[in-house]
Amino acid sequence: MKATPHFLFSLCLIIFSICSNSLLCAAAEEAVLDIEGNELQAGSKYYMVSAIWGAGGGGVTLRLTGNDRCPVTVGQEGSDLRNGLPVSFQPANSEETVVRVSTQLNIKFEVSVPCANSTVWRVGRLDAWTRTSFIQIEGEPGFDWFEIEKVSELANIYKVVSRGGQNIAVIFNMVGQRILGLSPANSFLVVFRKVQPLNQAY
Ligand SMILES: *[C@@H]1O[C@H](CO)[C@@H](O)[C@H](O)[C@H]1NC(C)=O
Repeated sequence: MKATPHFLFSLCLIIFSICSNSLLCAAAEEAVLDIEGNELQAGSKYYMVSAIWGAGGGGVTLRLTGNDRCPVTVGQEGSDLRNGLPVSFQPANSEETVVRVSTQLNIKFEVSVPCANSTVWRVGRLDAWTRTSFIQIEGEPGFDWFEIEKVSELANIYKVVSRGGQNIAVIFNMVGQRILGLSPANSFLVVFRKVQPLNQAY
């Protein structure tokens, strides 16, 4: 059979889709670790908080921005004393029970937001003032992928990138709120803190 470019392209597509959907093709990536050194479990609740104490601020939360009537924009607590809202991670490989670096996953706030159709993160609207795409909820499970990348071996510090590989950073919007958005330059350095029943009420 003659390998036409079209045939080769189709073959690549097939191999690529097999690889991205199974563990057959890639050795398992290393697990993401929480601040205590434990592997992040798919579906469990974690606080995603700044790895930088003090001026770095606290955990991720939801903010009302622009003309929105529902708090659908992902922001950050200004104080490092505040953990923000719990999130969970759903790997694209639904059989995976551990959250691994550099693999596609959904990030979801584990809170009820009745005015929003989902609490899954997505790359949301382009903000005219900051010229940044804000991270917002109302994403689609199984579609709006992000990846967690390791930044430091020393203290289990990570960053989150969009499916397109762009860093997520904390951006100050027009009214001075800390908002998560795509950034070509900076990244939001985070650690993951497991939500314990006792501090869940925070
Ligand atoms: C939620 O609604 C927005 C429009 O406001 C839409 O873009 C998005 O796809 C919807 N998400 C789900 C999960 O239905």
